[in-house]
Amino acid sequence: MAIDETSQSTEKSETALQLDPTIVLDVRDLKTNFYTYEGVVKALDGVTVQLRTGDTLALVGETGCGKSVTAKSIMRLVDSPGRIEAGQVIFQDIEPDGEHVFKDLLKVSEAEMREIRGNKISIVFQDPATYPNPVFKIGDQIAEVIALHQDLSLEILQDKIESMEEALKHADGPTADDISIRLEELREQLSSPPKPTDSETKKAAKRKAIEMLNLVRMPSAAEIANQYPHELSGGMRQRALIAMSLSCNPRILIADEATTALDVTVQAQVLKLLNELKSELDASIIIITHDLGVVAETCTQVAVMYAGVVVEYTNTEELFSDPIHPYTSGLLDAIPKLTVKVEKLSQIMGTVPNLINPPTGCRFHPRCEFATEQCKQQRPPREEMKPGHWVECWHPQGSMLRRK
Ligand SMILES: Nc1ncnc2c1ncn2[C@@H]1O[C@H](COP(=O)(O)OP(=O)(O)OP(=O)(O)O)[C@@H](O)[C@H]1O
Ligand SMILES: [Mg+2]
Repeated sequence: MAIDETSQSTEKSETALQLDPTIVLDVRDLKTNFYTYEGVVKALDGVTVQLRTGDTLALVGETGCGKSVTAKSIMRLVDSPGRIEAGQVIFQDIEPDGEHVFKDLLKVSEAEMREIRGNKISIVFQDPATYPNPVFKIGDQIAEVIALHQDLSLEILQDKIESMEEALKHADGPTADDISIRLEELREQLSSPPKPTDSETKKAAKRKAIEMLNLVRMPSAAEIANQYPHELSGGMRQRALIAMSLSCNPRILIADEATTALDVTVQAQVLKLLNELKSELDASIIIITHDLGVVAETCTQVAVMYAGVVVEYTNTEELFSDPIHPYTSGLLDAIPKLTVKVEKLSQIMGTVPNLINPPTGCRFHPRCEFATEQCKQQRPPREEMKPGHWVECWHPQGSMLRRK
């Protein structure tokens, strides 16, 4: 296992995590800045979070807290004036020979990164206004991804064999003999199928594209495949996008939900769909969302972000039953509850700070009711307060407090 050990962190348990085979993506102390005319925007100030194989991880937090920049940094898609300054993004890759290898995505070559982006980690920016490409039919776009990323040679050969077998049933005499000989030849190729022709690939990819559209529960998939993106509703376009992202069989799918692009019900449906597909496709998922209700229903793990930092990270049930960071409690309290009168809803005071001059110490301190002098001066360490429950806070709340 080739792992770079130049970790920023000194915590022992984190070093162990780096080698944990159940973790497919280990983001460690990631720092990303934007160099603007107004000053340096310190967008990510040491983001640490893990995605385990088969998990659905939610990244939640208010607008501007760094969710999209985290996704883009993982994919190395941060454009100028942005720059990834530090950290590690360790991805558990599977080599063609089946060997599992850990790679720091911030260190691999651009060529390898392109390969990973196309085949291993897929990102759906949930802005269906700009994707998919408006000038090509939905089915053709998905088929193109399939043709590019999937080896269809075995399927094409199997199809040929099936149609030959069918033909043999209706043939006799010398024709049947000819077919039998041909069938035998084709069966011998099964162990190493020949490269199909372009037209065979195109036909097979198109058929698979319709399968993908069916997989994402697209109504009338075959007809939709022949339509252009503008002919679809927002929700259908979203499904088409997901079908496209999944067509390369990624190990990780990242879905970045734009604030306004879709209405809440469509978002919830899309996220539920992703979760259902996860087991069918053996992929792990990162969902970026504002909707904590959706998180509760669809995600296994949650990372709560505040001003460029993951302030709390644990499994979903634990986060909802025992939130430890005051910011998380504030977020949870802000979920409208049917039993509570609207005017009584608690809100977190203030807004997300300007990240050019972020608050010193704990970035949340100006909005925190528990803040002390220490919070202003020093950033809290990332600590495992309960097993698997990580928090950055000088004044952790929750059940631990009640135990004291
Ligand atoms: N190209 C850029 N130039 C300058 N600053 C940027 C750029 N992109 C992002 N930022 C800054 O980085 C911070 C994090 O932004 P990000 O887009 O990750 O927020 P977010 O959590 O995804 O918000 P939202 O929920 O609204 O999508 C913000 O302060 C934002 O202003
Ligand atoms: Mg965003």
